[in-house]
Amino acid sequence: MKFNKQDILKALEAISLAGEGKNMVESGAVLNVITFANEVIVDIKMTTPAMHIKKRAEQDIINTIKEKVSKDAEVKVNIKVEAPAKGDANLIKGKPVPGIKNIVAVASGKGGVGKSTVTANLAVTLAKMGFKVGVLDADIYGPSIPLMFDVFNERPLSVNVDGKSKMKPIENYGVKVLSIGFFTKPNQAVIWRGPMASKALNQLIFDAAWGELDFMLLDLPPGTGDIHLSIMQSLPITGAVVVSTPQTVALADARKGVAMFQQENIQVPVLGIVENMSYFTPAELPENKYYIFGDGGAKNLAEDLEIPFLGEVPLVQSIREAGDVGRPAALQTATPIEKAFEEITKNVVSETVKRNDTLPPTEAIKITTMAGCSAVKK
Ligand SMILES: Nc1ncnc2c1ncn2[C@@H]1O[C@H](COP(=O)(O)OP(=O)(O)O)[C@@H](O)[C@H]1O
Ligand SMILES: [Mg+2]
Repeated sequence: MKFNKQDILKALEAISLAGEGKNMVESGAVLNVITFANEVIVDIKMTTPAMHIKKRAEQDIINTIKEKVSKDAEVKVNIKVEAPAKGDANLIKGKPVPGIKNIVAVASGKGGVGKSTVTANLAVTLAKMGFKVGVLDADIYGPSIPLMFDVFNERPLSVNVDGKSKMKPIENYGVKVLSIGFFTKPNQAVIWRGPMASKALNQLIFDAAWGELDFMLLDLPPGTGDIHLSIMQSLPITGAVVVSTPQTVALADARKGVAMFQQENIQVPVLGIVENMSYFTPAELPENKYYIFGDGGAKNLAEDLEIPFLGEVPLVQSIREAGDVGRPAALQTATPIEKAFEEITKNVVSETVKRNDTLPPTEAIKITTMAGCSAVKK
């Protein structure tokens, strides 16, 4: 059994990598092939950090070489993740938004798991850490950010920016807010299709005077439907945070949510999973934890999907009350809730930094201030 580099390259011509029309030899993805007795080392480059896509490529290469060259070949595949050349990046969707460094989508498979609560508390915590933050409430089915920020009676004014009339986001707790809810009547069932929603959201992003933002948090509608595909494909999203409760039904939907972001034609990096309502703690017994929806589910899911676990939020009455009165609970200092959100927020920031180190920009993170945030390394 003898084979050489040429045999291997010939075999690899049968494979084309995700997102590339040409075969992997032709596309230049194969960096090097070394053969030694029955050992083969294949070095390739890919533009995606998505674990499952890399695994699939590795498996394809091993199978193809065994099938076409020698079943006894011992194949090792080294994958280098490289930023795609500017301009051809199927990872960059939509045009970057001037002044907005990172758009982080907060998603959940299932509704009612606390996506908006997590978004609001992440936002105020980022603001406390010194970041410039905006929240865009894109939940066409139930926009709740105006209520959570106590701005539901306000309407954005228009301002003149460089001769153009733009919407001015409403600001509270150091966070700029715009919501699709400002433009739809309460209780009005809004029937949107994907393209309509993404057009409206594009306006809320591009025709608004957000100014400089380190982070724009996007509170997405729950689910994984066509509306999400449209939004994802038309906006330059840096990464996604998926919120789930530990309940089996919610976890199953969170898994679908992650899968949606990782689809070949979407490829939005998943920054990680946040577990909400991890355990119940009664106000009068703050040390007690009751795992009423199950224990550790989201952590296990994160492990299984090989994505970061960003932290857990307990189910406590004060979080619900704070949401209802429009003052996110994490604003209350020296509380376990503030701590929990600080931990999660630091993880989101550091995952964003990591993501921007390995992937091309929506626009790479250039954090202007980092007060109180040890996770930031730039
Ligand atoms: N950790 C929590 N503890 C207590 N109540 C919570 C918690 N997270 C969310 N809630 C409450 O649950 C309800 C649904 O949360 P919400 O953030 O609106 O979910 P979603 O945006 O996913 O539909 C709200 O009334 C909210 O105040
Ligand atoms: Mg919501």
